Amino acid sequence: MSESINIGTVEDIDEGEATVISAEENGTGEDIAVFHAEDGNFYALNDNCTHETASLADGWIEGTEVECPVHSAKFCLKSGTALCMPATIAARTHKVAVQDGHVMLYPNVSAVV
Ligand code: FES
Repeated sequence: MSESINIGTVEDIDEGEATVISAEENGTGEDIAVFHAEDGNFYALNDNCTHETASLADGWIEGTEVECPVHSAKFCLKSGTALCMPATIAARTHKVAVQDGHVMLYPNVSAVV
């Protein structure tokens, strides 16, 4: 069973917003962005854009996609798939589950089954 990190309650991240769990805290060596998407669900991707250097948590959430704030590549929050140029490489996903009103992040556990 993988370790999970309690990153707070569902009220702590407004819909359409994201928070970053640092590499030190999550143990993966990469910062992880946790998004509260407009479908009401939570999703997690590696925070750094796969194109160059940008925090996806600073991007714009639309539905279940996030747009990079630097060159506007879009990523699917569910699968990490790069949906448009200039990004061509998928962002790594991590599992997120809501348990008793708390948002639990499972670093290194893929969200894609
Ligand atoms: S850094 Fe994200 S699209 Fe270029």
